[in-house]
Amino acid sequence: MKICVVGTGYVGLVAGTCFAESGNDVICVDIDEDKVQSLREGRVPIYEPGLEELIKRNVAEGRLAFSTDLRGAVRHALVCFIAVGTPHGEDGAPDLRAIHKVAKDIGTLMDGYRLVVCKSTVPVGTHAKVAEILSSTTEHPFDVVSNPEFMKEGAAIEDFLKPDRVVIGVSSAKAAEIMKDLYAPFVRGGAPVLIMDNASAEMTKYAANSLLATKISFINEIANLCEAVGADVSHVRQGIGLDRRLGLHFLYPGLGYGGSCFPKDVKAILHTAASCDLEFPLLTAVEKVNNAQKRRLFTKVQSYYDGNLEGRTFGIWGLAFKPRTDDMREAPALGLIEDLLRSGCVVRVHDPEAMEVARRIFKDRVTYHRHNYDALEGADALLLVTEWSEFRRPDFDRIKRGLKEPVIFDGRNIWEPADMEKLGFTYFPIGRPSVQHRR
Ligand SMILES: NC(=O)c1ccc[n+]([C@@H]2O[C@H](COP(=O)([O-])OP(=O)(O)OC[C@H]3O[C@@H](n4cnc5c(N)ncnc54)[C@H](O)[C@@H]3O)[C@@H](O)[C@H]2O)c1
Repeated sequence: MKICVVGTGYVGLVAGTCFAESGNDVICVDIDEDKVQSLREGRVPIYEPGLEELIKRNVAEGRLAFSTDLRGAVRHALVCFIAVGTPHGEDGAPDLRAIHKVAKDIGTLMDGYRLVVCKSTVPVGTHAKVAEILSSTTEHPFDVVSNPEFMKEGAAIEDFLKPDRVVIGVSSAKAAEIMKDLYAPFVRGGAPVLIMDNASAEMTKYAANSLLATKISFINEIANLCEAVGADVSHVRQGIGLDRRLGLHFLYPGLGYGGSCFPKDVKAILHTAASCDLEFPLLTAVEKVNNAQKRRLFTKVQSYYDGNLEGRTFGIWGLAFKPRTDDMREAPALGLIEDLLRSGCVVRVHDPEAMEVARRIFKDRVTYHRHNYDALEGADALLLVTEWSEFRRPDFDRIKRGLKEPVIFDGRNIWEPADMEKLGFTYFPIGRPSVQHRR
């Protein structure tokens, strides 16, 4: 099948590459000329495990190309995916200008029937607006499909190639058949392709992300309560998560959710509810809890040093909003670092993949260390912010030698309090008993 994907970010690049991998003929289009140029030169602008090899193979085999020429791509394709960003605006509503612009451009450029597929996360009703724009710009027939994406950054290829389910919102049988055909190679293992109306498909994406965000905020609230009453959230998590009705996934206490999706999608659904004169107190609370949780590590640091942070140095391990990505959008590290800098601290940072992204944000306000242990040299404490697997079994003697005092604030509970006690660390996890040696 001939496909074009407009918007070559995390979603567009992964989707386009995976469609090429299953034998389709794909052109990925972006307005960012530098991005397209670097992809053409074989440099992948984002870190996503397995993506680079897949791109190289499909480009070499002639199934995948990158372009800024939307006209050529639309003329080439039967199916045009829209995968541009939908960031939230001031009022929480997603900014749909890029979606509308691309719909208008596709309408102007198409020269026959096209299937226009919204892969971006868009509020209910966007399909109708896209259809209206297409109707006003082309005489040719079209179908508009709502096909939200559920991949996780860090495991995006795996998720795309082996989805739990595929959601397809359509209003015509022809569009449903083309989409089922396109996804057939990815669901051979038996994953269902759910055909529904466009509005339900658009809603499904927001409902899924909101429920995942709710689980995270819930376990964070339980963690904070555990700290207050002297319980250990890691036991509680097992105790509730092993109930098959609940499940263990997304029940890890930590520093709150970040990334480009959950914060934006929770805001968007709240905005949708408000526009229907409905309150959604549950999600309002989810967002409030998350904002507070992102500051949890800083609050612990402040309280340990009795508010005297001026002149102290902290080594930070982990900047990305989660492991296996270089994405720092809405990452808990952002607010933490700003809080530390504002309090007069020196901040030394390390992340296995997100250092370049961090450099663009913090410039020379922090120091960057290619090796994790270097970030601890002369620091008062280690702050663990992202649970990269390479941090799980560190050389604790080296950590001790680097730090002024053996103090660790663990925002992701990657170490055991009992082990840290034996190793002589003062240790502050989330929702678990802390270990305090005499100062
Ligand atoms: N990142 C994720 O994990 C994820 C997962 C599921 C869904 N989504 C949704 O998918 C959408 C895209 O997210 P993303 O993370 O890939 O965004 P992104 O910001 O990484 O990429 C968007 C791309 O679109 C390009 N673009 C903008 N306007 C354009 C135009 N007029 N023509 C061509 N290209 C244009 C930008 O240059 C950029 O490269 C969003 O709606 C997001 O909510 C994201």
